[in-house]
Amino acid sequence: IPEKAQQTVQKTIKTTAHRGASSLAPENTLAAFMKAAELGCDWIEIDVQLSLDKVPMVIHDRTVDRCSNGSGAVAELALSSLKQLDAGQWFGQAFTEERIPTLAETLCLAKKNNLKVNIELKLYPQDDVQVLCERISEVITESQCIDTQLLFSSFNAEALKRMQNLQPQIRRGQLWEKIPTDALANLKEIDAYSVHCDYRFLTERQAQQLKQSDYQLYCYTPNQPALVEQHWGWGVDMMITDKPQAYRAILAYA
Ligand code: G3P
Ligand code: CA
Repeated sequence: IPEKAQQTVQKTIKTTAHRGASSLAPENTLAAFMKAAELGCDWIEIDVQLSLDKVPMVIHDRTVDRCSNGSGAVAELALSSLKQLDAGQWFGQAFTEERIPTLAETLCLAKKNNLKVNIELKLYPQDDVQVLCERISEVITESQCIDTQLLFSSFNAEALKRMQNLQPQIRRGQLWEKIPTDALANLKEIDAYSVHCDYRFLTERQAQQLKQSDYQLYCYTPNQPALVEQHWGWGVDMMITDKPQAYRAILAYA
């Protein structure tokens, strides 16, 4: 652990396990979420999109090709087809039992294991914002998760606006790769709680402005704690990382 990192770690920073503890288990699977719970993470981040039969599924890419033994677009495969796929073997033989989880299954596991869930509303071109939001909202209502356990995030401001109407008690975080110059006006529009940006593009001035306006500031996806020590000084509140275990090691050392 670099000496400088030891000195700067005194400010406690929170971490979210990005797609679960995705450096230790296949991303966006129940195994990755359990691993995050075992590591003592408070938060997991998951990507949600709809199957052909409009079931909210937890998977990042538009297609199943990279993270399963199948092929094709998620939006063109029904739940029954998606559930037949092996979603773990690409990561390692130990994970051949893993399946692409539904949002409902994930919320159930999160509830049992005291995990808070950052639900990214994942929209690819051609996806229907309204249907995605309505289906996610229904699952949340049915799952009876308590409000404080959840946060919506999206690159799509319309989706966040819809969620404000459907589930007003659940906070919203705007995702931006680079924070735009008119950020504050956009954030007001959706009554945002947080801003989630790519840590590589965040500037100290932007961080100052957002913190002065009382927004939570989250950064994705730094995987080496020592590389982001300056962000801690800028007031970043949360690191959304594939390696929560690396941050935990540093915090434990401090
Ligand atoms: O939540 C931040 C991050 O997940 C956004 O990017 O591509 O990993 O979904 P991506
Ligand atoms: Ca994501």
